[in-house]
Amino acid sequence: MPSGLVGAWLRRRSLARRVAAWALAVGGPALLTLASLPLRSSLVLGGFLFSLILVVIAVAVLDGVLPALTAVVLGVLVRVVFFAPPFVSSHAGLQPNLVSLSGFAIVGAVVAILIGELAKLAEEQASSRRVEAALRRVATLVAAGAPTDELFAAVCEEAGKLLHAEQTTMSRYESDDAVTFVAGWSRSGAAFTLGARLRLGGRNLATMVARSHRPARMDSYSDASGAVAEAVSGSGSRSAAGTPIVVQGRLWGVLIATTVNEQPLAPDTETRLASFTELAATAIANAQAQADVAASRARILAAADETRRRIERDLHDGVQQRLITQALLLSGIRDRVPADVSADVDQVRDELAATRQELRDLCQGVHPTILVEAGLQAAIRDLARRSPLPVRVQIRAGGRLPGSCEINAYYVAAEAFTNAAKHADASAVDITIEEAGGTLTVQVRDDGAGGADASRGSGLTGLRDRVEAVGGSMRLDSPAGVGTVLTVLLPVTADDH
Ligand SMILES: Nc1ncnc2c1ncn2[C@@H]1O[C@H](COP(=O)(O)OP(=O)(O)OP(=O)(O)O)[C@@H](O)[C@H]1O
Ligand SMILES: [Mg+2]
Repeated sequence: MPSGLVGAWLRRRSLARRVAAWALAVGGPALLTLASLPLRSSLVLGGFLFSLILVVIAVAVLDGVLPALTAVVLGVLVRVVFFAPPFVSSHAGLQPNLVSLSGFAIVGAVVAILIGELAKLAEEQASSRRVEAALRRVATLVAAGAPTDELFAAVCEEAGKLLHAEQTTMSRYESDDAVTFVAGWSRSGAAFTLGARLRLGGRNLATMVARSHRPARMDSYSDASGAVAEAVSGSGSRSAAGTPIVVQGRLWGVLIATTVNEQPLAPDTETRLASFTELAATAIANAQAQADVAASRARILAAADETRRRIERDLHDGVQQRLITQALLLSGIRDRVPADVSADVDQVRDELAATRQELRDLCQGVHPTILVEAGLQAAIRDLARRSPLPVRVQIRAGGRLPGSCEINAYYVAAEAFTNAAKHADASAVDITIEEAGGTLTVQVRDDGAGGADASRGSGLTGLRDRVEAVGGSMRLDSPAGVGTVLTVLLPVTADDH
């Protein structure tokens, strides 16, 4: 048997162990007396007492001081009673040696107390080491930012094993007086219907904790009622304890341990569960904070894009339209002015045309209208045409993509093209855009100097923020002298409106 199993058995103060200790405390002295009765010699007393002290030690290790002291008292009594007339004749050497027995009674009592206390101490230490180990395993997952599903499953498993429970479940309270199972562990390996949503009410632990916001226990399931009790009625649960999971002062859920044994769960079960619920609460708060930050980044980005779109519209509908009107006015004036002035009018008209072109380019940079009107493919080809470097475009993505996905991909390409032209001293740029499995991959590669470093500017950092805000990722490979590859993965998810 593996030593761990032996250790676990030894440490566990179960009913079976208690019964064994008392059986040995009573049966041991009786058996020893019976065995030594036929051997009528004073030597036998030494052997008897030695064996009895071994029994006392074993009983003390098994169940502490009380049964061990009982073994000492019984041992001395049976020896006194059965080694005196009428059981044995009163020949010398067969009489109970009262001095030795008195000495033994004192030594036996001291041994029983010492060993019993030591065994208790060792058990307490082993138990707190087990608690620490279980909590450390969960805390490591919390610190590593493990996904909440994985963490909840670990909390249920570690708490269940530690408390010798038959099963543990973690549930989340919903706003409409219902509860949802989010994780579970069972000693028998039984499967859980995760995600099952049940109405609160009746007599069951989930409801008791929801109403009181405090730990609760049920030492009997015989009068359990309500949807939650019905859901677990087949599991043979006899008693259970539950502790609330409180996240930032608000009741989030409940962790429940149940047992199928006759014996109720240990009195410290709720306190032990609380150590796990505190860790779970920390992880939930972390995950919520992360989700809040991601959502707020996405909102900021969407608001910035919306502002750019408005500025572009204002420039297009306002300034650009006025420039067009002014150009038309000038055309009208030109035929009516003397010949020497018409050359100047032509010059002003050319200037106006150049200003309009510049404004159009500026608008495109502020917000690429072509993207909205003609889609990503057309916008990227337009961008490639306007790039000072030759750009080879390969797009394997059919149809229109969600607006935010298109705009993010466009900005990736725009920044990468500009960087290649500005910093790389490259001869050509390649862009591939591919959509597969709900992800849009944009990769821009140049054959320039490499050595790109996001910390030296704001373009690449801004791009990373933009990409990560929508749950995407960005990778920059730019070994010096080899060229630069910028790879961005964007989730293709429908925009929220
Ligand atoms: N394709 C590239 N090839 C070589 N070096 C690059 C390339 N892209 C970027 N770099 C280097 O990395 C630095 C950071 O680039 P980034 O785009 O973040 O900033 P920037 O282009 O200098 O300024 P901004 O984009 O804010 O106008 C650049 O200053 C440049 O030195
Ligand atoms: Mg840049």
